[in-house]
Amino acid sequence: MAHFIAPSILSADFGHLARDIEMVNDSKADWLHVDVMDGHFVPNISFGPAIVKEIKNHSKLPLDVHLMISNPDQYVETFREAGADHLSVHVEACTHLHRTIQNIKSNGMKAGVALNPHTNVLEIEDILEDVDIVILMSVNPGFGGQKFIYRTIEKISKLRQMIDDRNAKALIEIDGGVGLQNAERILQAGADVLVAGNSVFKAENPTLAIYSLKNLGIKTLYA
Ligand code: DX5
Ligand code: ZN
Repeated sequence: MAHFIAPSILSADFGHLARDIEMVNDSKADWLHVDVMDGHFVPNISFGPAIVKEIKNHSKLPLDVHLMISNPDQYVETFREAGADHLSVHVEACTHLHRTIQNIKSNGMKAGVALNPHTNVLEIEDILEDVDIVILMSVNPGFGGQKFIYRTIEKISKLRQMIDDRNAKALIEIDGGVGLQNAERILQAGADVLVAGNSVFKAENPTLAIYSLKNLGIKTLYA
C-alpha cells in the first residue's frame, strides 16, 4: 500500500495555527498528527482537549491524536468529544491496555498503541490483532526536532513480521526525527505511516516537504 504522511502540529506556529492547518489541508498529507503531553508521562506539556477541538474545526484530515499522558483511559471520551479520529495511548502508561483499547474502539475511534524506544515490540504480541495502529517512537517522546534513533529500523522489521505472520491489519507509524534523509529506509523496513514535525514545519516550503515525503524518489516538484 502507498504510505501515509502525518505532519505533526506540535512543530507548527501556534500564533498562526489556523494558517498552518490550512497549509496541511491543501497538501498531500493524509492525517494530521496531534501530540498531547501532560508534563507527567513526558517532561513537556503541550495542550489539551480545548485546543484539539480548535484543530478539529480547521482540519479536513483525520486527527491522529497521540496521548503522551498518564491515565489515558480516563480521557478517552474527552478526546472523542474534542474530535479525535484515531486515539493512541502509550503501552507504558496503561495497566489495563486491553480495556483501554476496547474503550477507544467502543467510542468509535481507531485505536492505537505507542511504544517508547526502550519498549520491545513483543510487549504488544497479545493485542496486535485488536489495534488499528502501532506507533513506534523513534525518539524519546516529549519534544519535536530530536534525532532519529536508528535502532528503530530493526524494530520496524520485527513488528512487520509479527503483523504479517498473524495477517493482522495494524498500520506501523513511525514518530520522531523522520525526514527525507531516512524516510526511504523506514518504509523499506515495513512502515506504513510517517509522522513529520520539524522536517515539515521548519522547512522553507512545508507543502513541498510533505509532497517530497509522499513521493519519495521524485525530485522534480511544483513550486
Ligand atoms: C514527540 C512527538 C512527535 C513530534 C515529532 O514526542 O510525539 O510527534 O512532534 O516531531 P519531529 O518530527 O520534529 O521529531
Ligand atoms: Zn507524536
